[in-house]
Amino acid sequence: MKVLLLGATGNVGSRALPALIKHSHTVVAYVRSPAKLTPEKRAVLAGVVTGSVTDKSALKNAILAHDFDAVFHAAGLAQPWGRSKTREYNIIFASVIAAIVEARHERRGSAIRAWLMSGFPMLDSAIPTRLIGDYMPMFPEHRENLALIQKQEKENIAWSLFCASQLSPKHKEAQIPAPDDCSAANVFARADSPPEWRDTLQWVPLIGPYLNILSQAAGYATSVEDPLDFIAADFVKGGKSEFIGKRVGFKLKNKVS
Ligand SMILES: NC(=O)c1ccc[n+]([C@@H]2O[C@H](COP(=O)([O-])OP(=O)(O)OC[C@H]3O[C@@H](n4cnc5c(N)ncnc54)[C@H](OP(=O)(O)O)[C@@H]3O)[C@@H](O)[C@H]2O)c1
Repeated sequence: MKVLLLGATGNVGSRALPALIKHSHTVVAYVRSPAKLTPEKRAVLAGVVTGSVTDKSALKNAILAHDFDAVFHAAGLAQPWGRSKTREYNIIFASVIAAIVEARHERRGSAIRAWLMSGFPMLDSAIPTRLIGDYMPMFPEHRENLALIQKQEKENIAWSLFCASQLSPKHKEAQIPAPDDCSAANVFARADSPPEWRDTLQWVPLIGPYLNILSQAAGYATSVEDPLDFIAADFVKGGKSEFIGKRVGFKLKNKVS
Protein backbone atom coordinates (compact mmCIF):
# COMPACT_ATOMS: atom_id res chain seq x y z
CA MET A 1 0.00 0.00 0.00
CA LYS A 2 0.98 3.63 -0.37
CA VAL A 3 0.96 4.93 3.20
CA LEU A 4 1.16 8.55 4.36
CA LEU A 5 2.92 8.53 7.75
CA LEU A 6 2.08 11.36 10.18
CA GLY A 7 4.40 11.82 13.17
CA ALA A 8 7.43 10.14 11.56
CA THR A 9 9.81 12.08 13.81
CA GLY A 10 8.13 10.91 17.03
CA ASN A 11 8.47 7.94 19.35
CA VAL A 12 5.75 5.87 17.64
CA GLY A 13 5.94 7.20 14.09
CA SER A 14 9.71 6.74 13.78
CA ARG A 15 9.29 3.06 14.68
CA ALA A 16 6.27 2.68 12.39
CA LEU A 17 8.49 3.50 9.42
CA PRO A 18 10.71 0.36 9.53
CA ALA A 19 7.65 -1.80 10.23
CA LEU A 20 5.84 -0.41 7.19
CA ILE A 21 8.93 -0.86 5.01
CA LYS A 22 9.32 -4.47 6.24
CA HIS A 23 5.79 -5.18 4.97
CA SER A 24 6.61 -3.69 1.56
CA HIS A 25 4.54 -0.53 1.85
CA THR A 26 5.57 2.61 0.02
CA VAL A 27 5.86 5.30 2.69
CA VAL A 28 5.85 9.08 2.47
CA ALA A 29 6.42 11.06 5.67
CA TYR A 30 4.40 14.20 6.34
CA VAL A 31 6.40 16.16 8.91
CA ARG A 32 6.74 19.70 10.16
CA SER A 33 10.43 19.28 11.03
CA PRO A 34 12.10 17.45 8.10
CA ALA A 35 15.57 18.15 9.53
CA LYS A 36 14.77 15.59 12.26
CA LEU A 37 14.61 12.76 9.70
CA THR A 38 17.89 10.87 9.76
CA PRO A 39 19.63 9.89 6.48
CA GLU A 40 18.68 6.24 7.23
CA LYS A 41 15.00 7.19 7.34
CA ARG A 42 15.20 9.37 4.25
CA ALA A 43 16.82 6.51 2.36
CA VAL A 44 13.77 4.26 2.79
CA LEU A 45 11.11 6.93 2.37
CA ALA A 46 9.50 7.40 -1.04
CA GLY A 47 9.11 11.09 -0.21
CA VAL A 48 8.83 13.76 2.44
CA VAL A 49 6.09 16.39 2.55
CA THR A 50 6.69 19.34 4.87
CA GLY A 51 3.67 20.74 6.67
CA SER A 52 1.60 20.83 9.82
CA VAL A 53 -1.12 18.24 10.29
CA THR A 54 -3.36 21.06 11.44
CA ASP A 55 -3.26 22.34 7.85
CA LYS A 56 -6.16 20.29 6.55
CA SER A 57 -5.89 21.53 2.95
CA ALA A 58 -2.19 20.74 2.72
CA LEU A 59 -2.80 17.28 4.15
CA LYS A 60 -5.68 16.62 1.77
CA ASN A 61 -3.58 17.82 -1.18
CA ALA A 62 -0.75 15.49 -0.11
CA ILE A 63 -3.16 12.53 -0.03
CA LEU A 64 -4.49 13.39 -3.48
CA ALA A 65 -1.12 14.28 -5.05
CA HIS A 66 0.46 10.97 -4.04
CA ASP A 67 -2.75 8.94 -4.40
CA PHE A 68 -2.37 7.31 -0.99
CA ASP A 69 -4.37 4.19 -0.09
CA ALA A 70 -3.70 4.56 3.62
CA VAL A 71 -2.73 6.91 6.44
CA PHE A 72 -0.96 6.06 9.70
CA HIS A 73 -1.63 8.87 12.18
CA ALA A 74 0.84 9.16 15.07
CA ALA A 75 1.15 12.97 15.23
CA GLY A 76 0.65 14.92 18.45
CA LEU A 77 0.71 13.66 22.01
CA ALA A 78 -2.29 13.30 24.30
CA GLN A 79 -2.21 14.85 27.78
CA PRO A 80 -2.24 12.21 30.53
CA TRP A 81 -4.56 14.28 32.72
CA GLY A 82 -6.99 16.95 31.60
CA ARG A 83 -6.98 18.68 28.26
CA SER A 84 -4.51 21.14 26.78
CA LYS A 85 -5.75 24.74 26.71
CA THR A 86 -5.10 24.92 22.98
CA ARG A 87 -7.02 21.68 22.29
CA GLU A 88 -4.18 20.92 19.89
CA TYR A 89 -4.46 17.14 20.15
CA ASN A 90 -8.15 17.13 19.22
CA ILE A 91 -7.61 19.79 16.55
CA ILE A 92 -4.92 17.60 14.97
CA PHE A 93 -7.18 14.53 14.97
CA ALA A 94 -10.12 16.46 13.49
CA SER A 95 -7.87 17.91 10.79
CA VAL A 96 -6.56 14.45 9.83
CA ILE A 97 -10.07 13.00 9.62
CA ALA A 98 -11.39 15.94 7.60
CA ALA A 99 -8.44 15.76 5.19
CA ILE A 100 -8.99 12.03 4.63
CA VAL A 101 -12.74 12.38 4.14
CA GLU A 102 -12.41 15.33 1.77
CA ALA A 103 -9.67 13.58 -0.22
CA ARG A 104 -11.89 10.51 -0.57
CA HIS A 105 -14.80 12.70 -1.71
CA GLU A 106 -12.67 14.35 -4.38
CA ARG A 107 -10.97 11.17 -5.51
CA ARG A 108 -13.94 8.80 -5.15
CA GLY A 109 -13.04 5.09 -5.26
CA SER A 110 -12.64 2.99 -2.14
CA ALA A 111 -12.42 4.26 1.42
CA ILE A 112 -8.99 5.38 2.60
CA ARG A 113 -7.58 2.90 5.14
CA ALA A 114 -6.35 4.54 8.33
CA TRP A 115 -4.77 3.42 11.58
CA LEU A 116 -4.92 6.22 14.14
CA MET A 117 -3.32 6.43 17.57
CA SER A 118 -5.73 6.43 20.47
CA GLY A 119 -5.42 5.08 24.01
CA PHE A 120 -6.18 2.17 26.31
CA PRO A 121 -9.03 3.98 28.15
CA MET A 122 -11.08 3.91 24.92
CA LEU A 123 -11.46 0.12 25.12
CA ASP A 124 -14.52 -1.56 26.66
CA SER A 125 -14.50 -2.38 30.33
CA ALA A 126 -16.31 -5.56 31.27
CA ILE A 127 -19.41 -3.52 32.13
CA PRO A 128 -21.79 -3.12 29.18
CA THR A 129 -21.63 0.32 27.48
CA ARG A 130 -18.83 1.44 29.82
CA LEU A 131 -15.31 2.25 28.65
CA ILE A 132 -12.20 1.65 30.74
CA GLY A 133 -11.84 5.45 30.68
CA ASP A 134 -15.10 5.74 32.64
CA TYR A 135 -13.22 4.26 35.61
CA MET A 136 -9.66 5.35 34.78
CA PRO A 137 -9.99 8.97 33.63
CA MET A 138 -6.56 9.27 31.99
CA PHE A 139 -5.95 10.68 28.51
CA PRO A 140 -9.44 12.22 28.28
CA GLU A 141 -8.66 13.84 24.91
CA HIS A 142 -9.05 10.45 23.23
CA ARG A 143 -12.77 10.47 24.02
CA GLU A 144 -13.54 13.40 21.70
CA ASN A 145 -11.53 11.72 18.95
CA LEU A 146 -13.43 8.45 19.42
CA ALA A 147 -16.78 10.25 19.16
CA LEU A 148 -15.62 11.96 15.97
CA ILE A 149 -14.33 8.83 14.25
CA GLN A 150 -17.44 6.84 15.12
CA LYS A 151 -19.54 9.43 13.26
CA GLN A 152 -17.67 8.91 9.98
CA GLU A 153 -19.20 7.07 7.04
CA LYS A 154 -17.41 3.81 6.27
CA GLU A 155 -17.40 4.63 2.54
CA ASN A 156 -14.95 7.46 3.28
CA ILE A 157 -12.58 6.17 5.91
CA ALA A 158 -11.82 2.57 6.84
CA TRP A 159 -10.47 3.31 10.30
CA SER A 160 -8.93 1.39 13.17
CA LEU A 161 -7.87 2.96 16.47
CA PHE A 162 -4.63 1.79 18.09
CA CYS A 163 -5.72 1.74 21.74
CA ALA A 164 -2.31 1.19 23.25
CA SER A 165 -1.49 1.31 26.90
CA GLN A 166 2.02 2.44 27.87
CA LEU A 167 4.47 1.85 25.01
CA SER A 168 8.17 1.31 25.72
CA PRO A 169 10.70 1.00 22.91
CA LYS A 170 12.69 -2.24 22.62
CA HIS A 171 15.39 -0.33 20.81
CA LYS A 172 16.51 3.13 21.89
CA GLU A 173 16.41 4.45 18.33
CA ALA A 174 14.25 3.29 15.43
CA GLN A 175 16.16 0.52 13.67
CA ILE A 176 16.19 0.27 9.88
CA PRO A 177 15.65 -2.41 8.72
CA ALA A 178 13.21 -3.54 11.42
CA PRO A 179 14.98 -6.02 13.73
CA ASP A 180 13.83 -9.65 13.85
CA ASP A 181 12.80 -9.32 17.51
CA CYS A 182 10.08 -6.83 16.54
CA SER A 183 7.13 -8.84 15.35
CA ALA A 184 3.35 -9.09 15.41
CA ALA A 185 3.95 -12.66 16.57
CA ASN A 186 4.85 -11.24 20.00
CA VAL A 187 1.44 -9.64 20.64
CA PHE A 188 -2.19 -10.54 20.95
CA ALA A 189 -4.65 -8.10 19.42
CA ARG A 190 -8.35 -7.87 20.08
CA ALA A 191 -11.10 -5.65 18.71
CA ASP A 192 -12.84 -3.28 21.11
CA SER A 193 -11.56 -4.66 24.41
CA PRO A 194 -8.14 -5.63 25.77
CA PRO A 195 -7.01 -9.18 24.88
CA GLU A 196 -7.49 -11.66 27.73
CA TRP A 197 -9.47 -9.09 29.72
CA ARG A 198 -11.08 -10.72 32.74
CA ASP A 199 -14.28 -9.84 34.50
CA THR A 200 -13.04 -10.05 38.07
CA LEU A 201 -13.70 -8.16 41.28
CA GLN A 202 -16.77 -6.45 39.84
CA TRP A 203 -18.86 -8.05 42.57
CA VAL A 204 -17.13 -5.81 45.14
CA PRO A 205 -19.75 -3.17 46.06
CA LEU A 206 -19.21 0.30 44.50
CA ILE A 207 -15.48 0.06 43.83
CA GLY A 208 -15.56 -3.32 42.03
CA PRO A 209 -15.22 -1.98 38.45
CA TYR A 210 -12.34 0.27 39.52
CA LEU A 211 -10.55 -2.62 41.21
CA ASN A 212 -11.09 -4.81 38.17
CA ILE A 213 -9.35 -2.27 35.93
CA LEU A 214 -6.60 -1.34 38.38
CA SER A 215 -5.73 -4.99 38.96
CA GLN A 216 -5.25 -5.69 35.26
CA ALA A 217 -4.18 -2.44 33.58
CA ALA A 218 -0.46 -2.70 34.34
CA GLY A 219 -0.29 -5.93 32.33
CA TYR A 220 -1.07 -4.06 29.12
CA ALA A 221 2.16 -2.10 28.75
CA THR A 222 3.78 -3.28 25.52
CA SER A 223 6.75 -2.57 23.36
CA VAL A 224 6.29 0.09 20.70
CA GLU A 225 7.62 -2.07 17.91
CA ASP A 226 5.61 -5.32 18.16
CA PRO A 227 2.13 -3.81 17.77
CA LEU A 228 3.47 -1.59 14.99
CA ASP A 229 4.53 -4.71 13.09
CA PHE A 230 0.97 -5.97 13.58
CA ILE A 231 -0.44 -2.74 12.12
CA ALA A 232 1.96 -2.78 9.16
CA ALA A 233 0.87 -6.39 8.45
CA ASP A 234 -2.78 -5.41 8.81
CA PHE A 235 -2.38 -2.61 6.26
CA VAL A 236 -1.53 -5.33 3.72
CA LYS A 237 -5.13 -6.62 4.07
CA GLY A 238 -6.45 -3.23 2.90
CA GLY A 239 -10.24 -2.99 3.03
CA LYS A 240 -10.51 -6.65 4.07
CA SER A 241 -9.09 -6.18 7.55
CA GLU A 242 -11.33 -7.48 10.34
CA PHE A 243 -10.18 -4.50 12.44
CA ILE A 244 -11.90 -1.84 10.31
CA GLY A 245 -14.28 0.24 12.42
CA LYS A 246 -12.74 -1.17 15.62
CA ARG A 247 -10.79 0.04 18.60
CA VAL A 248 -7.89 -2.36 18.96
CA GLY A 249 -6.15 -3.43 22.16
CA PHE A 250 -2.79 -5.19 22.42
CA LYS A 251 -1.02 -7.34 24.96
CA LEU A 252 2.45 -8.84 24.89
CA LYS A 253 2.19 -12.63 24.61
CA ASN A 254 4.50 -13.28 27.51
CA LYS A 255 2.17 -11.21 29.71
CA VAL A 256 -0.93 -13.26 28.95
CA SER A 257 -1.90 -15.37 31.91
N1 LIG B 1 4.11 6.81 23.82
C1 LIG B 1 3.16 6.07 24.41
O1 LIG B 1 3.39 5.34 25.41
C2 LIG B 1 1.77 6.09 23.85
C3 LIG B 1 0.85 5.17 24.33
C4 LIG B 1 -0.43 5.18 23.82
C5 LIG B 1 -0.76 6.09 22.84
N2 LIG B 1 0.16 7.00 22.39
C6 LIG B 1 -0.25 7.97 21.37
O2 LIG B 1 0.59 7.82 20.23
C7 LIG B 1 0.72 9.05 19.56
C8 LIG B 1 2.18 9.38 19.30
O3 LIG B 1 2.88 9.34 20.53
P1 LIG B 1 4.44 9.53 20.59
O4 LIG B 1 4.89 8.99 21.89
O5 LIG B 1 5.05 9.03 19.32
O6 LIG B 1 4.54 11.14 20.61
P2 LIG B 1 5.83 12.03 20.24
O7 LIG B 1 7.09 11.27 20.37
O8 LIG B 1 5.67 13.31 21.00
O9 LIG B 1 5.62 12.33 18.68
C9 LIG B 1 4.64 13.21 18.25
C10 LIG B 1 4.85 13.44 16.77
O10 LIG B 1 3.82 14.30 16.32
C11 LIG B 1 4.41 15.30 15.51
N3 LIG B 1 3.57 16.48 15.50
C12 LIG B 1 3.04 17.13 16.57
N4 LIG B 1 2.31 18.18 16.15
C13 LIG B 1 2.39 18.19 14.80
C14 LIG B 1 1.88 19.03 13.80
N5 LIG B 1 1.09 20.07 14.10
N6 LIG B 1 2.16 18.75 12.50
C15 LIG B 1 2.95 17.69 12.18
N7 LIG B 1 3.47 16.84 13.08
C16 LIG B 1 3.20 17.11 14.38
C17 LIG B 1 5.77 15.55 16.14
O11 LIG B 1 6.59 16.23 15.24
P3 LIG B 1 7.88 17.11 15.71
O12 LIG B 1 9.02 16.14 15.78
O13 LIG B 1 8.01 18.12 14.66
O14 LIG B 1 7.55 17.69 17.08
C18 LIG B 1 6.18 14.10 16.41
O15 LIG B 1 6.65 13.51 15.22
C19 LIG B 1 -0.03 10.06 20.42
O16 LIG B 1 -1.35 10.13 19.93
C20 LIG B 1 -0.04 9.42 21.77
O17 LIG B 1 -1.07 9.93 22.57
C21 LIG B 1 1.42 7.00 22.86
